[in-house]
Amino acid sequence: MTDLTPLRQIIRDRAHVDETTALAALQTDAPITDEVRNRAVARATGYVEAIRTAGDPALMEAFLAEYGLSTEEGVALMCLAEALLRVPDDETIDALIEDKIVPSAWGEHLGKSSSSLVNASTWALMLTGRVLNDEGDGVGAVLRGAIRRLGEPVIRLAVEQAIKEMGHQFVLGRTIKEAVERGRDATKKGYTFSYDMLGEAALTAEKASSFFHAYADAIDALAPHCKGDIRTNPGVSIKLSALHPRYERAQQSRVLSELTARTLLLAQRAKQHGMGLNIDAEEADRLDLSLDVIERVLTDPSLASWDGFGIVVQAYGKRAGPVLDWLHALAEKLDRKIMVRLVKGAYWDSEIKLAQVEGHPGFPVYTRKAATDVSYISCAAKLLSMTDRIFPQFATHNAHTMAAILEMAGNSRAFEFQRLHGMGEALHDRVLATEGVQSRIYAPVGAHSDLLAYLVRRLLENGANSSFVNQIVDTDVPAAKVAADPFDDLANAAPTSIARPEAIFPGRVNSQGWDLTDEAALAKIEAAREPYHAATWTAAPLIAAMPKGGEAMTIRNPFYTDDVVGMVTLASEEDTEAALNAATPWGAPVAARAATLRKAADLYEAHFGELFALLAREAGKTLPDAIAELREAVDFLRYYADEAERLGDAPARGVITCISPWNFPLAIFTGQLSAALAAGNAVLAK
Ligand code: FAD
Ligand code: 2OP
Repeated sequence: MTDLTPLRQIIRDRAHVDETTALAALQTDAPITDEVRNRAVARATGYVEAIRTAGDPALMEAFLAEYGLSTEEGVALMCLAEALLRVPDDETIDALIEDKIVPSAWGEHLGKSSSSLVNASTWALMLTGRVLNDEGDGVGAVLRGAIRRLGEPVIRLAVEQAIKEMGHQFVLGRTIKEAVERGRDATKKGYTFSYDMLGEAALTAEKASSFFHAYADAIDALAPHCKGDIRTNPGVSIKLSALHPRYERAQQSRVLSELTARTLLLAQRAKQHGMGLNIDAEEADRLDLSLDVIERVLTDPSLASWDGFGIVVQAYGKRAGPVLDWLHALAEKLDRKIMVRLVKGAYWDSEIKLAQVEGHPGFPVYTRKAATDVSYISCAAKLLSMTDRIFPQFATHNAHTMAAILEMAGNSRAFEFQRLHGMGEALHDRVLATEGVQSRIYAPVGAHSDLLAYLVRRLLENGANSSFVNQIVDTDVPAAKVAADPFDDLANAAPTSIARPEAIFPGRVNSQGWDLTDEAALAKIEAAREPYHAATWTAAPLIAAMPKGGEAMTIRNPFYTDDVVGMVTLASEEDTEAALNAATPWGAPVAARAATLRKAADLYEAHFGELFALLAREAGKTLPDAIAELREAVDFLRYYADEAERLGDAPARGVITCISPWNFPLAIFTGQLSAALAAGNAVLAK
């Protein structure tokens, strides 16, 4: 039996490597010749020109024209729709319109993440960059005007209509039956479908169960349409996050038993009807765990001889290449054939933001669009060399990417193309008609109320200037540029302008975070905490005089009271008096005070193992909470060091007493006293 462990290790090692290393490894594995590159550009330029000449009103253009998104009022309504999707009842919706839109300038809400209209405004910027340029007739003004004319209930109805129309663009039907009917024309053209029940991110067991049943029912409803084989039959696409409310590394054992069992049931059902079942790829921090689930499901003997198990791999992820190697080895080991859908990836914005906010050691995804394109083409080359075990499904709306695949594949047709419903229609129609390559449409099915997350991803994807669908409708961008060679683009690209996680604050180092889905990071934390697993600490008043000491207390672990964390001697009243009398302002120059605070921050970080252990045992903090607490403390120290320098050598105020609450014993304690110390005060801390 092949041992897959070394391949899994390579995947893990690749998680945070730098972009150049990851791409270099991929390009060594699957080199692309200059000839293929030249031909791909020529072919793609032809596609772009043909689509533009034919004036096919597909892609985003149709969306914008048909649903009025090119008008300011249309955009305004769509914006409001996004905010209102979260609001449960009419009264609240009217109140929201009244509260958020009428009295204030829309523009003022931009960039304030606490505002419910931030996303909405961002959409407006993405969809028509010019709308918000001019405050006078921007989205806010338009909305205010419309509300004044029409009143909130009318706006509310219009918004509801707008949501329906938007849903119609991206959702094939509310039920499988409706979707199959609406897909009939495309079926006649030769398309097949993979239906997605819009299930994701279940937060309760009840929701997970209802998504499970939605998928199971969908599989049954499609059975009568399965008249051919896996390749020609319809299939389903599922998201693992829909099936379990705690689909996360910290709940590994539950996930491996419960989520695997549910996924297996769906796979068995799909097998029974001869259809494909695809596991969509989601956030990068779920990748490693998903591979465990996938391995367990696929290994089940009941799935033998079924070629319909599909896995999605995201080319924007630095682990994409090794994941393909692992999947191929797994199929070989189990003597199975599987399907792999290669996508670029739909969570790019959140991956970048999450890594920055969490202070991770790097990004799990590439930071330049051309890098993702190059990765995609290199992964495609790899997949085309794995067709003994893998049926590749190339999901893209980009003419160059499709052209490159056709050039690499030569006469082989042992793969299919895929597109999302509502996108890439003209391009896929053309390739389907001229190349004889099968194309499958990913078709979301469900109620409009479940659409939000999917819709936001589509709008982010389409709205980005760099996206293919955005460029093809913008005839100011020449065809040759739309179809340009990403290898050249990458070679000429400027270094990324995206701030690395440690550098997101100007002039100040971000506190170090931990990726709690990274096995190496978990092992490092475990090793550093180990010496403090059973250690005890003693604490007594630290004052400028010899403390007399008051009452002594035993400190116990709140979640396991047999565990004695340590002994504390409280300060007596005399000690407090003595401390007050001895307190004198910190006379050091501001630069020295700032340096000391920064040094303290570094020491906090260096002693993470002891602090995490103490935070858990004394304050009952979970690991994510302990990390957040330590990071907050470190940020405070560095922030106040900077602030002190900014303010200069202002006179101290005197003696400051800091009393922090029990629930943030490190962060708030540190925050209070570092602010006071930075300013040169004497500090008494309880
Ligand atoms: P292009 O415009 O060529 O590429 C856009 C993509 O490039 C972005 O989506 C992003 O991935 C990447 N990108 C953009 N800017 C940058 C940057 N600065 N640095 C690095 N990369 C960047 N996505 C999933 O995540 N999971 C799935 O399971 C999934 N299933 C899909 C199924 C089908 C049939 C299809 C067609 C798509 C699916 N997608 C899935 C969505 C897919 O990820 C996006 O549609 C795809 O990224 C768009 O790529 P493109 O080649 O069409 O367009
Ligand atoms: C998404 O849900 C299509 O899986 C992809 O965005």
